[in-house]
Amino acid sequence: MFANRTNWNLKQNEIADRLQALKALGTPVFDLSESNPTECRFEYLNETILDPLNMVANLKYAPDPKGMLGTRKIVEDYYRQNGIFVDSSQIFLTSSSSEAYSFLFRLLANPGDNILVPRPSYPLFHFLADLNDVELKTYPLIYDHDWHIGTEHLISSCNEKTKAIILVNPNNPTGSFLKAKELEKIVEFAESSLIALISDEVFFDYPFNANCERVSLAKIKTTPTFTLNGISKAFGLPQMKLGWIVANGPRSFLNMASERLEMILDTYLPVSTPVQNCMKTWVAQREIIQKEILARTNKNRLFLHSLLSKPHPASLLNSEGGWYAILKVPKIKTENEWVLTFLEEDHVYVHPGFFFDFEAEAYIVVSLLPIPEVFEEGMKRILKRISETAKH
Ligand SMILES: Cc1ncc(COP(=O)(O)O)c(C=O)c1O
Repeated sequence: MFANRTNWNLKQNEIADRLQALKALGTPVFDLSESNPTECRFEYLNETILDPLNMVANLKYAPDPKGMLGTRKIVEDYYRQNGIFVDSSQIFLTSSSSEAYSFLFRLLANPGDNILVPRPSYPLFHFLADLNDVELKTYPLIYDHDWHIGTEHLISSCNEKTKAIILVNPNNPTGSFLKAKELEKIVEFAESSLIALISDEVFFDYPFNANCERVSLAKIKTTPTFTLNGISKAFGLPQMKLGWIVANGPRSFLNMASERLEMILDTYLPVSTPVQNCMKTWVAQREIIQKEILARTNKNRLFLHSLLSKPHPASLLNSEGGWYAILKVPKIKTENEWVLTFLEEDHVYVHPGFFFDFEAEAYIVVSLLPIPEVFEEGMKRILKRISETAKH
């Protein structure tokens, strides 16, 4: 009865089973996978967020496939503040960046075409690819005290069926920003091979150090580019569901892409009117919540550094931004075994590296968003567990 594209293995994995069992027993679990900002006790300006929902303008429906002009102007402003000049006509609103990916895959690829994604990276790509009948190919992110894009590998992985290269900037979970030199090479290749570039910049506003080298794809005009972002991370408001695509490139490409993208969006009209109206007010709280989130991620990261400043069998990988940290753990257990041990023995929940498709074992990934009491206790427990296990 069902389409093959939904033939996923839907059986809950062992880790999720054990977590569910612990919760059912009422056992408190230190959840170091928590990356939902609304669950991490940030001080949201509740009235600023809620008041504009009660506007009379929210009762009127005047759909524009690209999204309301006033809201697109706010997005245009967001880029201008970063020295990037795009016009509101290049901006397309969606209900999330995940949805934006789907629309772009529909715009660019026929069934059987392929799209390149970084490895390790965000686990949702596999589902997005299946749902849109495209194949995924990967290119490596290489770690040698810093993360680099394997550009040679990226280039050699493309073939005549490659329709887009995805850059996650900064990448989840490696927290590595795209560098100007890497971008230059990739743009030159994309331009010569007619492959579109898609840059996912949902964590762009979260560098650990404000001076770190960051470059947004939104300003690239020499080749077709699509830059994704949204309020789920940039405003800490995932429940409100608003994302956007900035299309850029040569004028003739932009005209054709815009017409087609507009038709896709017109078919769904995915963004709610109240959310678009609220953006005028919500934009005022962006910097406040970003500062709070950045203070939290930096505090938790510094704590991790301090715990690991003495010799320890686990080590923290360098990263430049985002909401995650990666720990390399001894290979005396598999990632699955480590995560199950932390869960059962220490009541701490973390993600295994394989969840993000790391090429080798053994890594664990933790979110830097949890409140410090939870983060610090959880980290102390698992680092103690690792050093004790490594001694035996
Ligand atoms: C790299 C990356 N892109 C996109 C998303 C999804 O963003 P949105 O909530 O706008 O769909 C996530 C969510 O964690 C993410 O990690």
